[in-house]
Amino acid sequence: MKHTRIVVSRYGGPDELRVVEEERPAPKAGEARVRVLAAGVALPDVMAREGIHPETPRTPFTPGWDLVGVVDGLGAGTFGIEPGQIVAAMPIHGAYAEFVCLSQRELVPVPSGLDAAEAVSLVLNYITAYQMMHHSAEVKRGQRVLIHGAAGGVGTALLQLGRLAGLEMYGTCSSSGAAAVREMGGVPIDYKHQDFVKEIHRLTGDGVDAVFDPIGGSHLWHSRKALRRGGKVVGYGLISSIRGRGLASGRPGRRQRFRGSAIFGLYIAGGRLLPGRKRIVPYSIQTLKRLRPELFRQDLIALLDLLQQGKIKPVIAHRLPLAEARRAQELLGQGGVIGKIVLSCSGTPDE
Ligand SMILES: NC(=O)c1ccc[n+]([C@@H]2O[C@H](COP(=O)([O-])OP(=O)(O)OC[C@H]3O[C@@H](n4cnc5c(N)ncnc54)[C@H](OP(=O)(O)O)[C@@H]3O)[C@@H](O)[C@H]2O)c1
Repeated sequence: MKHTRIVVSRYGGPDELRVVEEERPAPKAGEARVRVLAAGVALPDVMAREGIHPETPRTPFTPGWDLVGVVDGLGAGTFGIEPGQIVAAMPIHGAYAEFVCLSQRELVPVPSGLDAAEAVSLVLNYITAYQMMHHSAEVKRGQRVLIHGAAGGVGTALLQLGRLAGLEMYGTCSSSGAAAVREMGGVPIDYKHQDFVKEIHRLTGDGVDAVFDPIGGSHLWHSRKALRRGGKVVGYGLISSIRGRGLASGRPGRRQRFRGSAIFGLYIAGGRLLPGRKRIVPYSIQTLKRLRPELFRQDLIALLDLLQQGKIKPVIAHRLPLAEARRAQELLGQGGVIGKIVLSCSGTPDE
């Protein structure tokens, strides 16, 4: 039987996303086949399409960091999971498809009754937010934080988790995101028209305890200026390497996985030479997952529990069909999206 998946056959703009019809994959030993219900769309997908994310696979590849779906077939020797079970996974690429085969070790059971789009938002965005907040910054109730890109996918997750943790929150966003940031408990700062360092010192006096910075480059050093003594900048992204809506590198068709991270590393190392008891630390969900897979699993289970209890509610900006993956990435690349874009990939189950 056939299924649909999205393929990037050349690094480049959204036009490089093709819809392909092909035979459904068969699970190998130790794998389960998952009928994908929802796949998240995130800036790392856009950067991989452009060849500039550290996790960019070789072409041709199917994008998609995270998914929620139903187990519909098991390979030989796969046990501990049953067909019909709803699961979540973060394969890093491959999720923009109706059917995906994954190692059983990658699958985390999802409690029944949850909305698949909301559940998939937890995988990349909320785990990133949760781990940065609790494992990297080690925030304490009553502390002050600055969240850059606060109206975006990871930003809205940080706001919701920060509110639960009892933090005083400030969030940079463009003017269209200000109301959403305020509603989620943050004080909005318009990054296009205000100097956030001055604004933080005007509003707080001595600065914040932690900054979450997905912008990267010299922006990390500005973020450091917003810290109070003893504070930490958690650097976790390279938005500064995406220029406008076109190719970030300006060299279409090239895979430049480490260019951005090398620059990122230089700024982090340089931050150590600056005076004052302030630190810049990097965070990478994929590195931490590879080093400590049980922590990834444990944090996702804790987040699924918070979702089930109604303590968090992912903001879904758009739900689009799988075949509109190109439009989804165009929307995200253009900016101004509040929350998360999710692809609905409801393949037809086998009879
Ligand atoms: N290290 C990790 O493990 C990890 C995990 C997940 C994501 N990430 C990174 O996190 C970043 C965000 O991903 P996402 O999917 O959440 O993207 P997103 O939904 O597009 O959110 C990005 C947000 O940043 C805002 N923004 C852009 N330039 C800004 C600036 N100079 N100052 C303040 N805000 C700015 C955008 O606002 P406007 O659109 O209104 O301009 C947008 O709301 C990406 O760099 C991604 O690679 C890293």
